[in-house]
Amino acid sequence: MTAARHCELHTNSATAQRTEALGAALGGLLAPGDVICLSGELGAGKTVFSRGLGAGWGAAVPLSSPTYNLAHEHVRTADSTRLYHLDFYRISGSREAETLGIYEILDSGAIVIFEWPERVLEILPAEHLWIDIMLREDDGRTLHFRAQGERHAALLNELRQALVVKGSGAHVTGD
Ligand SMILES: Nc1ncnc2c1ncn2[C@@H]1O[C@H](COP(=O)(O)OP(=O)(O)OP(=O)(O)O)[C@@H](O)[C@H]1O
Ligand SMILES: [Mg+2]
Repeated sequence: MTAARHCELHTNSATAQRTEALGAALGGLLAPGDVICLSGELGAGKTVFSRGLGAGWGAAVPLSSPTYNLAHEHVRTADSTRLYHLDFYRISGSREAETLGIYEILDSGAIVIFEWPERVLEILPAEHLWIDIMLREDDGRTLHFRAQGERHAALLNELRQALVVKGSGAHVTGD
């Protein structure tokens, strides 16, 4: 099967546990070089989703909100591969990301998770999985996934299959 170049998925999450489980499902599918962008207002659930991502991937230490550091480096116990969890809420812009060594991080082959990616649009790789987490009036969340590039489209298709198997009711559209 040829992966669509452009692929989207919508799903709902009624609870923080469900959002974390969605992150864990995606985390188990991540490969070196994958770039995950988590967008949403304050308190939307980006860090909850990241915590699931880290757990599903196998991080040695749980992912948490990087309060003082803009970047947290994580190692997977199983194979010593790396994942960077970046929270750019407090960043002044792409120039500061450059001084933090963002290009070295992106070139390292590690998995990179961005919270507040819209703060650094200029330095984001063209190929990524963008996830919007939106608050609903009933306090639930709607998650909208959009893949850019074949690798991330394939990743999203794998996630869709994993969610369909679990009967999550996710809706997927693709070109
Ligand atoms: N369906 C849900 N999904 C995710 N979080 C939820 C949900 N329902 C309630 N919550 C709560 O919303 C909060 C989300 O906090 P979180 O730190 O993940 O947000 P954030 O998007 O990372 O915000 P910030 O930009 O401030 O870092 C948590 O307290 C979580 O328990
Ligand atoms: Mg956060």
